[in-house]
Amino acid sequence: MSKLLLLLICVSCSRAGAQTEKLSFDKGWRFYEGDIPMPVIKGHGNSYNNAKAGKAWGAADPGFDDKEWMLLNLPHDWAVEQPFDSTANLSQGYRRRGIGWYRRNFKIDARDRGKYLEVQFDGVATHATVWFNGTLVSRNWCGYTSFYIDITPFVKYGGALNTLVVKVDAVQQEGWWYEGAGIYRHAWLVKRNPIHLITDGVYAQPVRRNKTDWVIPVEATLENITKVTGNVEVEAGLYNNEGKLIVQNRTNASITSLHQAVLKISLPVNNPQLWWVDHPALYSVRSTVRQDGKIIDEIATNCGFRTIKFTADSGFYLNDTYMKIKGTCNHQDHAGVGVAVPSSLWEFRIRKLKEMGSNAFRCAHNPPAKEFLDACDKQGLLVMDENRNFNTSPEYQRQLEWMLRRDRNHPSIILWSVFNEEPMQGTETGYEMVRRMSSVVKNFDTTRPVTAAMSDGQFTPLNVSTAVDVVGFNYNYESYDKFHEANPALLMTSSEDVSGLMQRDVYVTDNKKHLLAAYDTIRPYWGTTHRVGWRAVAERRFIAGCFVWTGFDYRGEPTPYDWPTAGSNFGIMDACGFPKTAFYLHQAQWITDRPILQLVPHWNWPDDSIGKPIKVMAFSNAEKVKLLLNGKMIGQQAVDKYEMNSWEVPYRPGKLEAIGYKDGKEVSRYAVETTGEPAAIQLIADRSSIAGDGWDAVPVTVQVVDAKGRLIRTANLPVDFETDGAGSIIGMGNGDPNCHEPEKGNKHSVYNGLAQVILQSKPGGHGQLILTARSGGLKPASITVDVKDAIPVQSVD
Ligand code: GAL
Repeated sequence: MSKLLLLLICVSCSRAGAQTEKLSFDKGWRFYEGDIPMPVIKGHGNSYNNAKAGKAWGAADPGFDDKEWMLLNLPHDWAVEQPFDSTANLSQGYRRRGIGWYRRNFKIDARDRGKYLEVQFDGVATHATVWFNGTLVSRNWCGYTSFYIDITPFVKYGGALNTLVVKVDAVQQEGWWYEGAGIYRHAWLVKRNPIHLITDGVYAQPVRRNKTDWVIPVEATLENITKVTGNVEVEAGLYNNEGKLIVQNRTNASITSLHQAVLKISLPVNNPQLWWVDHPALYSVRSTVRQDGKIIDEIATNCGFRTIKFTADSGFYLNDTYMKIKGTCNHQDHAGVGVAVPSSLWEFRIRKLKEMGSNAFRCAHNPPAKEFLDACDKQGLLVMDENRNFNTSPEYQRQLEWMLRRDRNHPSIILWSVFNEEPMQGTETGYEMVRRMSSVVKNFDTTRPVTAAMSDGQFTPLNVSTAVDVVGFNYNYESYDKFHEANPALLMTSSEDVSGLMQRDVYVTDNKKHLLAAYDTIRPYWGTTHRVGWRAVAERRFIAGCFVWTGFDYRGEPTPYDWPTAGSNFGIMDACGFPKTAFYLHQAQWITDRPILQLVPHWNWPDDSIGKPIKVMAFSNAEKVKLLLNGKMIGQQAVDKYEMNSWEVPYRPGKLEAIGYKDGKEVSRYAVETTGEPAAIQLIADRSSIAGDGWDAVPVTVQVVDAKGRLIRTANLPVDFETDGAGSIIGMGNGDPNCHEPEKGNKHSVYNGLAQVILQSKPGGHGQLILTARSGGLKPASITVDVKDAIPVQSVD
């Protein structure tokens, strides 16, 4: 366990000492899929009562009988449980969404009387209405923003039941991609001292003063819900990742009853370890609130010391070191789980992107889960954080403010994006709106530039490009030079590019079967191939970098097809995270510190292909690549670092092998072989052990191999799964955008050799979790994941 993690755990322990508890509110919800219309109110008496606090009707009434409703735990995405439906919206992946109701009864101990009590929802898709003990306490109109509800005045203490009801309206849509449906991120119940740090109330972003001197201008927002003014002392301490105190300062404040106060504490720091993408050094600021010498609240906030700089002529610098941004855009769904993505899957996805040589991620087109940003800080991935709704009216300004307040401590975040491809981008209205939104951003954070992802309008007399700090270009790479020449002082990045289309291990396009060949040749009219897109960015130093659409496939937007295709084809990886051709292409282009060499296609062609030419591509960062078939030389080419290398090879079964050379010496070798018939299933867990906390999850690769253990990249077979022990299957997938098999249950087919099963531990689980896979006459496989004792997640009973 890392020392930082230990420190954080200790801090949460001391929170308990400080009377602050953050309890998971994920367990034990009652769920009804469908609407329960509110009774029609008629008559004076009913109308009078209906208008009063505490008098909710229908399913929002605390007394409503929900015992027939399904019992489940959050995070929950009911859309992913639906069958595919040709009448549902293609943009949402042909999944029905609709309306759902959640209810949860719980008790609050009499000893909690006097504390501040808050319910938190990290994300509900899409519109949520919340009642607590019969009073409407929140309406949230964004499926990507968290919301925090002070329930203190309404709580019943002791033996009495409290009732929390959430109506989720997922008929509403905020995107043109799969958005899921339900309470799909975590929920929490927080208990704090009546004088406390508010949620997201500590801002601790280090700022460099000169070469080695830094300062953290800590801002802590406190609130007092007691009946009298409270005098407190707030201490901020910076700790390194070994838990060693580096610097500490304190201040005193008086907070009047039912008011908030912002306290400022400066922490000077000399020569800290810097946060880099390859070495993301993290520190922690511990803010401690004391009253009469006793700790009453405490919170740890991660931070990192790094500078960022965008320039008009020479791109982006991290810590004064030039760095081309090599990013991808991504939505938030994963195979098997929809948008209810466990943190460990985020870590898995970030790891895959980094394996590809990527250093950046655009959260398209909405704020991500908090756990994702924590993982980017920890694993070293730069982030463009994006607001969902382009609107300057008060409710939408609140959404933008929430994002800034929640996210501004993450060292990984380098850009705030206020919109994506808004039709008003080339107009005065768009300009005026962005000017206002940019000003809202600056109220919360002046250390990162504001951008907007423009798909058009950059050349109109008044447009958004002069209201942002960095102009984001979506596609339109042929205008990069024209814009730069016309506006040499403006900073530019690609905010979205490519949109190349391909499927994993498909090499013959067949529009009837909705199959797209993975040779990096297919693109929609607005996009480019991966090769053309990267070249346009790589050859222009004034373009800070690229954000390829997309790193992973997602549900919905099945361009260029529609039904029965339900998932996108844009991903560099499929929806499970299995690499497509574009993955190896980017590896060859983006990785410079180790040899990369990969060949496509597979070498399993039918007998009638013998003697016919097959297009072969090699992806390499060597200087020269030699290609051999069954030991015989096919050819040798100097590597073209943008286009890569290809040959037409008359097919003969056997071994196709590439050898990479640098300075005349062999540096890499890769072979693809014609395999035998399917003989066995193999299971490979991404990690051999997981925490038994009920949250940790691990993707397991299911693959079909021949008698010699070689992956058969053309195998498509059904597989049955069984689990035993301290966990279960939470979802399955195979990355085929045309597949309509259920993602829940225990049966799934392998697509082009591969499938993925996601296992999750049971709460309080320890010991072994065994997954067994069987298919027809193949040799079955079993794998054991160790489920380790974990600190139990503290939950609401
Ligand atoms: C862009 C848009 C993305 C996605 C993409 C598909 O214009 O910003 O959300 O729709 O096209 O190519």
